[in-house]
Amino acid sequence: MNNDSKIILTGIKPTGMPHIGNYIGALKPLIEKSQTNKTFVFIADLHALNSIHDAKEIRQHTYEIAALFVALGLNLDNAILFRQSDIDAVYKLNTFLMNVTPKGLMNRAHSYKAMLEKNAAANRDPDADVNMGLYTYPILMSADILLYNADIVPVGADQKQHVEFARDIAEYFNRTYGNVFRLPEPQIGINNGIIPGLDGRKMSKSYDNTIPLFAPANELKKKIMRIITDSKLPNDKKNPDESTIFLLYKHFANADEIATMRDMFENGKIGYGDAKKMLFEKIDSVLSAPRAKYEYLMAHTDELDSILAAGAARARDTANDTINRVQHAMLG
Ligand code: ADP
Ligand code: TRP
Repeated sequence: MNNDSKIILTGIKPTGMPHIGNYIGALKPLIEKSQTNKTFVFIADLHALNSIHDAKEIRQHTYEIAALFVALGLNLDNAILFRQSDIDAVYKLNTFLMNVTPKGLMNRAHSYKAMLEKNAAANRDPDADVNMGLYTYPILMSADILLYNADIVPVGADQKQHVEFARDIAEYFNRTYGNVFRLPEPQIGINNGIIPGLDGRKMSKSYDNTIPLFAPANELKKKIMRIITDSKLPNDKKNPDESTIFLLYKHFANADEIATMRDMFENGKIGYGDAKKMLFEKIDSVLSAPRAKYEYLMAHTDELDSILAAGAARARDTANDTINRVQHAMLG
């Protein structure tokens, strides 16, 4: 199978606005890949349920992720964009997979173990705040992946183990019931390196150093002006490859603009304040059209409803076919 005929699938949990690191590292490469490959992108609202217990909040975040993909230009003729909970077959497959998943596998899941460690550190009951949604999270995620015959699952490093579990579960199922599932592979490497945040560490919501992707222009500017720099003066020579300003700029500017900023840094022709202004203007100009589209869609959620309904109808074709094969294999 050549690479272009592989099926790509990923799920995004609706827990808030992604940041520029997510955009450059994950969303943009995924959108590009969807031009050549059959791609399923879904909003993993069922996966948000173990931590968010407010329906309005999940619904709002679900719209945000849908609007974001449409605004960023996901090609909806190629890519299938849908809401996880719209597909009934996923609940069924979850139940079926429960019966071929060893409990020990779940005990080894990083996300569950992290909760146990947190509770131990706080001298609490080991299972405090652990609901069964969290404990069985990797089974539902396996159902997502196997239902759509995914070959490649682009995820962040923290989700790699879950994709490996999906593969283990599929292998076990296939050994027991015949060859029903395709074996998925995690893909960690389609990102563009690690994007630094305002304090120079990896941009991450855990470090509170992010630039939200669609912040209004004034907020975007404020954030960019807060980027931490060293104390070099405008006419000091600076290494662009160690500067957060340049490292962000190079993902938004064209080759000539990048070369110009590099020269200004290396030859002491610009101060950090002015470089930040250039960065703001560049990001703002690249993101202003998608941001306007995003804001339009968030004000017209009926359009998002139709897009998600159309995506669900297409996803359902594949999902129903798989679930019929699974049901036949397990129940005759
Ligand atoms: P966070 O670190 O903010 O919690 P996630 O772990 O939810 O981000 O990441 C979601 C996706 O975005 C993953 O595919 C991850 O590799 C990518 N990503 C997150 N932060 C960065 C970053 N600073 N640079 C590059 N890619 C990133
Ligand atoms: N668990 C993923 C996360 O927390 C989201 C997700 C759910 C997912 N189902 C998936 C990702 C299937 C890839 C494939 O980010």
